[in-house]
Amino acid sequence: MAAIDMIKVLAVILAFIYYNASGAQQKIPELAKKLGATTLLSYLKTAGLDTELEGDGPFTLFAPTNEAFDSLPTAVKEKLATDKTLLRTVLMFHVTNGAVYSSQLQNEMLVKSLDTTLDIRINIYKGGQVITADGSQVINPNQNATNGVIHIVDKVLYPLPNINIPQYVTISPELSTLFYCVVQGQLTDVLSGQGPFTLFAPDNTAFDNLPPGELSDLLSNQTALVDVLKYHVVSGTQYSKGLVDGDVSTLEGKPVKITVEEE
Ligand SMILES: *[C@@H]1O[C@H](CO)[C@@H](O)[C@H](O)[C@H]1NC(C)=O
Ligand SMILES: *[C@@H]1O[C@H](CO)[C@@H](O)[C@H](O)[C@H]1NC(C)=O
Repeated sequence: MAAIDMIKVLAVILAFIYYNASGAQQKIPELAKKLGATTLLSYLKTAGLDTELEGDGPFTLFAPTNEAFDSLPTAVKEKLATDKTLLRTVLMFHVTNGAVYSSQLQNEMLVKSLDTTLDIRINIYKGGQVITADGSQVINPNQNATNGVIHIVDKVLYPLPNINIPQYVTISPELSTLFYCVVQGQLTDVLSGQGPFTLFAPDNTAFDNLPPGELSDLLSNQTALVDVLKYHVVSGTQYSKGLVDGDVSTLEGKPVKITVEEE
């Protein structure tokens, strides 16, 4: 009996040491607060997701900083404040089931969010120095909670409907000229393909700034039009956080030169 008690005591001590070695002391919501993500925590409370994230999980939370929420456009902030369903969808897009550490993340990995219809796209750049989740940069990874892990990110992950590049161009009013060109160039199918692709999309103002006659010349020469459009497309998901100075090859064949300027 005494021996069994002793083993129990030892087990508790070992569990305690292990628990502290992993740094985990709090559940996810509490840890988010400790890490300074207080705006996120108050949104989680409003959406009733804080109690969910106190469950056994384990969960992985991509937690935007307070500055990330502050920098959302005012219209979006107002919408989040009044539309609880939207708020919940947005917040659920920051969480995945299971404890996923940064070392387990891979480039172009799609991680199911709690709202299982939406995937979070992971990208890894600069030899692993930059990790993004839907383009938001992980700035403080692998913070251990007792029921999962938190990665602090610098931007709010904003779930878009599952649409492909041509569909995105179609619904963007500022890209209507580009849409017309893509249709004229019969590139809708190519850009609807598996990809993933990155499109550097000239907006209507960019087309307006072309020398007079150039756009109509382009539209009257199918070969030239297709070449120019393909010159705006590169393979892979190139979020701005991952871009580095240098040449990137395009679908057209010739490389495009990327220059990164400090924000
Ligand atoms: C969190 O736990 C993992 C696995 O136990 C460990 O590798 C990592 O170093 C811990 N992170 C911190 C910040 O303590
Ligand atoms: C159309 O564009 C291609 C590629 O830029 C060019 O080689 C060709 O000469 C152009 N055709 C006409 C009729 O201008």
